[in-house]
Amino acid sequence: MCGLVGYLGSKDALPFLLEGLKRLEYRGYDSAGVALLNEGNFSIIKKKGKIANLEAELPEKNLSHAGIGHNRWATHGEPSDVNAHPHQANSGNIVIAHNGIIENHLEIREDLEAKGIEFKSDTDTEVIVQLLDFYMKENPKVFFTDAVQAILPKLAGTYGILFLHKDYPDTLIGVRNGSPLCFGLSNGEFIISSDVIAFATYMPQVVHLEDKEMVIIEKDNYRISTFKGAIVDKELENIDKQQTTASKGEYDHFMLKEIYEQPRSVLRAIRGRLLNEEGNTKLGGINMDVRDFFDIDHICFVGCGTSYHAGLLGVYLMESMARIPSTAEIAPELKYRNPIVRKKTLYVGISQSGETADTNSTLQEIKNKGGKVIGICNVVGSSMARMTGAGIYVHAGLEISVCSTKAFTSQISAIYLLSILMARSKDMSIHAGRRLVKGLDEIPQKISQILEQKDRIREIAKKYSHFNNFLFMGRGNNYPVALEGALKLKEVAYVFAEGYSSAEMKHGAIALIDPECASIFICPDDNMRTKNVSNIQEVRSRNGRILAIVTEGDTEICDVADDVLEIPATEPELTPFLTIIHLQLFSYFIALELGKDIDQPRNLAKSVTVE
Ligand code: M6R
Repeated sequence: MCGLVGYLGSKDALPFLLEGLKRLEYRGYDSAGVALLNEGNFSIIKKKGKIANLEAELPEKNLSHAGIGHNRWATHGEPSDVNAHPHQANSGNIVIAHNGIIENHLEIREDLEAKGIEFKSDTDTEVIVQLLDFYMKENPKVFFTDAVQAILPKLAGTYGILFLHKDYPDTLIGVRNGSPLCFGLSNGEFIISSDVIAFATYMPQVVHLEDKEMVIIEKDNYRISTFKGAIVDKELENIDKQQTTASKGEYDHFMLKEIYEQPRSVLRAIRGRLLNEEGNTKLGGINMDVRDFFDIDHICFVGCGTSYHAGLLGVYLMESMARIPSTAEIAPELKYRNPIVRKKTLYVGISQSGETADTNSTLQEIKNKGGKVIGICNVVGSSMARMTGAGIYVHAGLEISVCSTKAFTSQISAIYLLSILMARSKDMSIHAGRRLVKGLDEIPQKISQILEQKDRIREIAKKYSHFNNFLFMGRGNNYPVALEGALKLKEVAYVFAEGYSSAEMKHGAIALIDPECASIFICPDDNMRTKNVSNIQEVRSRNGRILAIVTEGDTEICDVADDVLEIPATEPELTPFLTIIHLQLFSYFIALELGKDIDQPRNLAKSVTVE
């Protein structure tokens, strides 16, 4: 959510800023802007809309060696040229770009307005730059860095901020409090950003800042300190290129490419972690061994959006396989009801990006209360991975599409591995373990078989593209899949869809059933099939339109549903891996049919770094 990029070095800053912004565009695309320091003055170019709008306004040649840029996902103030970042102080001396929310902005604004400061934008961000400007005017001898340090305690909320001052042309400052910030360096050049992908191709190493840390880059040197000025020593980390480079290749959209990557991404998640002979799995990164499991009597999965849905599936798996009572929580709901943190609960944070503010702040709250926390995360070195210090990397590779697809199947891979591992330490027999491990091993190949049905899925999606209301229904392990399927359709096609337990349908949602409402039943051959068939019949009797996802050869359901899509036979517990693939492609093709902006859906951002 919002992308920050800053450059200081001996080369022309603009190409680095522009390239960085393009790579970060998936994080926010309401507006974009750059500020370049040119011979003692700032040139600021800001445009509403996507980077292409900004690019059209940029000078061909530029001689600035210092600059900052920003992609915006609007929080305070509508998307517009004026509200776009960077923001400049009234004196013209300072520019900043900000990711996060300043919660006490109204208070600061009123205070500054009472002192005669005029504001140009509706953003919370502008208070930072005007406050700093005012402070420096009041304290004419103060150095830029000291002034930044002096105003930070006045800001409440979360932020990653980049600062430039025209009288300090060789200084670029970045501060972090709750919004990610890191920088890369190479031969006296520095790029600082909210995400390593902004500079991964130019720089081999990265330094991640932690909360309440700042970096002061001066010419070809840098120092990191706390907000209070204590110097912090940090290791340079090598950048994993695989995690940081992406192109659409032969695909029209990242979403489609990432759907097609799933046979490989699931394989990467399970590779080396299956023990066929023992009917078990191994997960080195959780820093627990089998004896530690005796002390766990409850698992709590914590996440948002798709990651929450993966956690909800975790509840079904942990309870049915490992017989450990489990819950899944929408992260901020847990945090703000003041969680009762228990010694014997294992808290499992789930996040693709590892930067979701709601999830990270909830995990932090749990840690502060002494809870045991591990993470299931895709991005190596992300804030969540560093905060938890233990967990499972899912190795899905970079996910660019705002609508998450391969992250989900990778996350559930990790959850199946963890569930089997814990189950085998409890009641699960070696035979049951072997059956599931073998089944998991075959999943990548079975996902490929579904991907081969692309044309059929597209044809069906076309038939359903005129519906304005969808119910996605499933039971048991496929209830979380129903929620996830509905989320996909909402996100990319902007069509109203609700995920529902098919068991719950008759308690209310059945009132919606008529020929204008499409019911998508997830009804594979598992222990819920018979019950699902009854639910399908209930919809049929009320003239509802039915698309069913079934296991191949299920002629009984073929006879009652209007349309069916088939998954290959698999172990009943593992069907979510396959049913979700149909729903991802179904949503993709409906969005395509409706002409939507699939990789950058309106109002969304890839990584939500504000609460
Ligand atoms: O990076 P995270 O997994 O923590 O992100 C959580 C949600 O914001 C994310 O899953 C969101 O719901 C996706 N856009 C879903 O497609």
